[in-house]
Amino acid sequence: MWQLKKAYYRTFQTVFKYAMFIFDWSEPQLLEGPGAIRQLPEFIKSKGLKKVLVVTDKGLMGIHLLDPLFEELDKAGVEYAVYDGTQPNPSIQNIEDARQLYLDNGCEGIIAFGGGSPMDCAKAAAARVTNPKTPVKKMRGTLKVWHKLPPLFAVPTTAGTGSEVTVAAVVSDPETHEKNAINDPKLRPKYAVLDPELTVGLPPHITSTTGMDALTHAVEAYIGRSNVKSTEAYAEKATKMIFDNIEKAYNDGKDIEAREAMLKASFYAGMAFTRAYVGYVHAIAHNLGGYYGIPHGLANAVILPYVLEYFGESAHARLAKLAVVAGVKTDGTDKEKAEAFIEAIKTLNRNMNIPDKFDCIKDEDIPTIVKRALKEGNPLYPVPKIMNEADCEAVIRRLMK
Ligand SMILES: NC(=O)c1ccc[n+]([C@@H]2O[C@H](COP(=O)([O-])OP(=O)(O)OC[C@H]3O[C@@H](n4cnc5c(N)ncnc54)[C@H](O)[C@@H]3O)[C@@H](O)[C@H]2O)c1
Ligand SMILES: [Fe+2]
Repeated sequence: MWQLKKAYYRTFQTVFKYAMFIFDWSEPQLLEGPGAIRQLPEFIKSKGLKKVLVVTDKGLMGIHLLDPLFEELDKAGVEYAVYDGTQPNPSIQNIEDARQLYLDNGCEGIIAFGGGSPMDCAKAAAARVTNPKTPVKKMRGTLKVWHKLPPLFAVPTTAGTGSEVTVAAVVSDPETHEKNAINDPKLRPKYAVLDPELTVGLPPHITSTTGMDALTHAVEAYIGRSNVKSTEAYAEKATKMIFDNIEKAYNDGKDIEAREAMLKASFYAGMAFTRAYVGYVHAIAHNLGGYYGIPHGLANAVILPYVLEYFGESAHARLAKLAVVAGVKTDGTDKEKAEAFIEAIKTLNRNMNIPDKFDCIKDEDIPTIVKRALKEGNPLYPVPKIMNEADCEAVIRRLMK
């Protein structure tokens, strides 16, 4: 029975891998470099838009990170309304509120400004604008957004989720503790701004955890079975850039070169995983986020080494390649290189004060977390080795203090 199930999962994954060839995976049009945010309003105007909705969060409004954007929107004569109610792990209510504001103000496009939470909230709200008959709950899953979105301009301020380039928007339902992705190529923004100046004020603990999220994207995509040449190249570039820069950005937030490299790495990792998928690290992280509100990057950072250890031999060859790419270990057997790579991830975590376990996971929640994580991961994620419930539970138990 289990063998049959696994065969079905692998067939499903192969079908999806080849089905992906029909979509357009070109990079979004980018405005890049320090201060690039100031070019966005004229760019929007050149697209013929007169009024936009800016989706962001209160934290970013509080530190005045959007002031240059507002200034330039005024100068360009582009009107705007602001939705700043996005919570970390955006809720369905956030999405509906943003959509309502868009409609009430007669907006013609959306600027998604912030970390993954505002960007995902904006993407889902945009989807709701053009798909009024499909509630968010029905969009969850894969290929369930029927109509294309209004123009969407993504401005990441963490590095990060890569949401500026991905097909995904992750939404939370606080009532049921569910956290699920909407996956549809229609959600991919066509325009993005990569401005490292927007990230210099990121506090160290968010720099580290969001950076580890990007690394998790690169690693999970790379060890999966749905890579094509381009996703391999993106994942390798991202891995190297993150290993070279994450601690620099963590130790000196004002190191603009490290910030720029991290932002680009997060973008590359996004390009990799949006086509080649993530894996069980994300499946478990989403559910720990849904249950206990653990920030996404932190959850991934802690879980990543445990899942890689679970994969064992099935991931050695690929992890060995990443060990070489990242300059972690260039000699020895694949097993030795892979193990060194996992150790290097643990060292990064330790050097950036990221814990190696959680104390919030409750025994009685584990069966549901396991079920939901595997529902997310199987059959969709083309992981090196397929997990059953006992495997998943064992990994989660290793995460507990
Ligand atoms: N769509 C995707 O492809 C994708 C991929 C990975 C994760 N996600 C989702 O993204 C969300 C997490 O996003 P995130 O990790 O970017 O965090 P976030 O957007 O939740 O932001 C975390 C905190 O950092 C603050 N912050 C953001 N940028 C800042 C800056 N430049 N300076 C100072 N403070 C700043 C925010 O105000 C917030 O308090 C989760 O819901 C996760 O599931 C989506
Ligand atoms: Fe992620």
